[in-house]
Amino acid sequence: MAAAGPQDLTPAPVEYSLTGGISKCGLDQAIVLKSQGFLKEIESLPQWKQNEAYRITVERFSVLIEAASDEGVFRARQTLRQLQLLGGDVPCCIIMDYPRFRHRGLMIDESRTFKGLDFLKKQMDAMALLKLNVLHLHLVDADGWRIESEAYPLLTSKTAWRIGRTHPEWKAAGFRYSSQDNPKAYGGFYSAAQLREIVAYAADRYITVIPEIEMPGHSTEVGFAYPEVLCVSSNGHPFTGSWDVCPGSEATFEFLETILSEVMDIFPGPFIHIGGDEAIMNAWPKCVNCRQRMKEEGIHDYRQLQGYLVRRIDEFVRSHGRRIIGWDEILETGVPEDAVVQSWRGIEGGLKASKAGHDVVLSPNRFCYLDHYQDYYRKEPKARSPLISLRICYSFDPVASGMVEEHVLGLQGNLWCEHIPTPEHAEYMIYPRLFAVAETGWSREKSYESFRPRAEKLCEVLRGLGYNTFDLQGESSLGRSGRRD
Ligand code: ACM
Ligand code: ZN
Repeated sequence: MAAAGPQDLTPAPVEYSLTGGISKCGLDQAIVLKSQGFLKEIESLPQWKQNEAYRITVERFSVLIEAASDEGVFRARQTLRQLQLLGGDVPCCIIMDYPRFRHRGLMIDESRTFKGLDFLKKQMDAMALLKLNVLHLHLVDADGWRIESEAYPLLTSKTAWRIGRTHPEWKAAGFRYSSQDNPKAYGGFYSAAQLREIVAYAADRYITVIPEIEMPGHSTEVGFAYPEVLCVSSNGHPFTGSWDVCPGSEATFEFLETILSEVMDIFPGPFIHIGGDEAIMNAWPKCVNCRQRMKEEGIHDYRQLQGYLVRRIDEFVRSHGRRIIGWDEILETGVPEDAVVQSWRGIEGGLKASKAGHDVVLSPNRFCYLDHYQDYYRKEPKARSPLISLRICYSFDPVASGMVEEHVLGLQGNLWCEHIPTPEHAEYMIYPRLFAVAETGWSREKSYESFRPRAEKLCEVLRGLGYNTFDLQGESSLGRSGRRD
């Protein structure tokens, strides 16, 4: 049988050499060693790289893993697992490996369609195989609140179900929420116990889960369940013509801080994502509570109320020993010192933030948005434009053109789900483009010519494991070309 060696791995390892001959030793019999020699060799690397670094020595009758930490051993075992899955004999070799970036992630939108525990576990298995280490969960949005809250139970009882399976169907039905017992209801949510199970499953794979609680925009469902977080109309009633919460009302902060406390109790990781994108701000100039807040705080432009909200939430989150991440709109109203900016409207947010000394995560929507078409639109199910083929996704360089490298934590692929009705379809959009994200995040040197056949093989491997991947072999000439149209 053909040999599968280090040259077939994705992400590509930093360094390898073939030492001659074929191993007769089962890869699952690897011996683990935290050797002084290896520690000496990696001592010039930053600590976070040392933690993930490993060396594998495959000989005829032995396989040896050297690492500085259990995390490094885990990464090494994933390399061996991938070699096994690729099949065939394994050549004797030495692989020396460590990551380029510390944040290598996938975002999954659970609000637009709810995919459930088994789906997330399955994706984490693939993430581990690809040496990805961040799962960002977009858990709440207008389309449905997806996490149990003890303090605010109406969030799930009133908005975790809706009429319409997809976002367009929900739109056609007039954006109506429903109760679970409605025969036409679509939805679901994670119990606190399930969320803890996700966190534990992730931790076993050295994956950090970043929960996202959207504010102040994308919050229609919150205002529907708890109208006290809404702005006040001129007639004194809650203003329902916006998806923003009211940054003038104390009820909003009581709500957000209580929810964030519940979230931080479940998710132990260092980051809490607070959204921050696409606030409409249409109610704020007229709302009595917002006007009062502006007066008290000396704010002259109502848009700066977003900055007030972000600063206050940042202080709250920091007082619990965590850091906030926000979409790049938070740059427009002053970013708290320790906050991380996630650049999505291109890389401009990342450039500006990194130059101002903020850490950044890059997920520019023309390279890293996995809900976009991955091939010629006429042969694909409905998706977003422009085209992001595998080649285009792979071509992204997080530190190109003026980015301050020391502030680049890494990158993410983002799977928004307005046009993604089922878990199977979600996998179709994720793979193989997530391979490209993984290689950009891990590998020091990239070459599409080397990557492409590896991606084809890995698609076969994942299909054998029951994943529904895009058919890379059937990719059109447009997709292959790297052009957008
Ligand atoms: C986003 O895509 N609205 C962050
Ligand atoms: Zn208001």
